[in-house]
Amino acid sequence: MSKQETVKIVEVGPRDGLQNETGIITTADKAKLIYALVSSGITNIEITSFVSPKWIPQLADGLELAQILNLPNFVTTTALVPNLKGYESAKLAHLPEISLFMSATQSHSKKNINKSIEEALILIKELTQIAQADQKFIRCYISCAFFCPYEGYVDFANVIKLIIKLVEMGIDEISIGDTIGYATPKNVKDLLKPLGTMLDTKKIAMHFHDTYGMALSNVYASLEENIRIFDSSIGGMGGCPYAPGASGNLASEDLVYLLHGLGFNTGINIDKLVEAGSLAQTIIKKKLPSKYLQASLAKCLNVQEIK
Ligand code: HMG
Ligand code: MG
Repeated sequence: MSKQETVKIVEVGPRDGLQNETGIITTADKAKLIYALVSSGITNIEITSFVSPKWIPQLADGLELAQILNLPNFVTTTALVPNLKGYESAKLAHLPEISLFMSATQSHSKKNINKSIEEALILIKELTQIAQADQKFIRCYISCAFFCPYEGYVDFANVIKLIIKLVEMGIDEISIGDTIGYATPKNVKDLLKPLGTMLDTKKIAMHFHDTYGMALSNVYASLEENIRIFDSSIGGMGGCPYAPGASGNLASEDLVYLLHGLGFNTGINIDKLVEAGSLAQTIIKKKLPSKYLQASLAKCLNVQEIK
């Protein structure tokens, strides 16, 4: 790993975090959180989902939120898009990027989008062609790429085939999700090592959940396999409503602390990120799991003295 390299962080808290909150979060509070994240130096942010409000009522205000935001041009906003209806909302919102999504297992796919993997791939191909014509940057998640809450172990050979299919369709970035946070660094290497011999890892992002405490270790293993894009969520908010037990995304504060400690550049000011994490706690009225956030707020040590 060479120092001074840049790592791209995709902040997914306003989507992956807030989709999991049971309380009502106002559109104004969502916007406030996004502004706080952007002032910390975050430049890639998933602001919401354009999915069915019957499935994810927490993000039913996605279009309204996108339309009230007034962010600088250097910030790239994206949102989850499950179908043409969702794509139309993303277009109305003038998002430069869309995030498609699918699952590596049939059971999670059915629970999450009510479609088989084959049906999802047909839809993703159609949406990709439309979005390419509109010059959108296209990312696509593969959920449950390591373990599935319904099917257990996932066959990596199948995951690799899916990734290659998505690359061939013209997807710009593929985010590989450990949706239930059960993978270990060995699993990560077992998937990434062969993948790295088949395609350019610049197109690959890793999306870790910290359910079993492995997220940062998995980031380290991914860095060793030349991955330089990671998804994270402010404070560690989140999970997946259709993956039982999928609590806690990798926390943005913890990820940035690790990356800066290793000498990578992220463009993010960690003190400002802590302010955003603190705001997130106020908004959702809950203590968040990020270790860096909690230690900073408790003023465990006078960091200024050792900086
Ligand atoms: P369905 O019920 O099969 O579809 O849902 P439908 O076409 O019959 O539509 C049902 C209703 O929803 C209809 O309304 C549609 O108009 C409406 P009605 O006629 O009954 O009044 N509808 C929509 N409304 C607004 N925007 C839309 C839209 N589409 C349909 N885009 C569907 C299929 C895909 C829509 C549904 O299953 C869905 O929305 N699923 C999304 C679930 C979701 O967001 N899950 C969490 C995100 S995935 C995740 O967290 C994992 C990830 O973080 C990575 C990782 O951790 O690994 C990404
Ligand atoms: Mg997730």
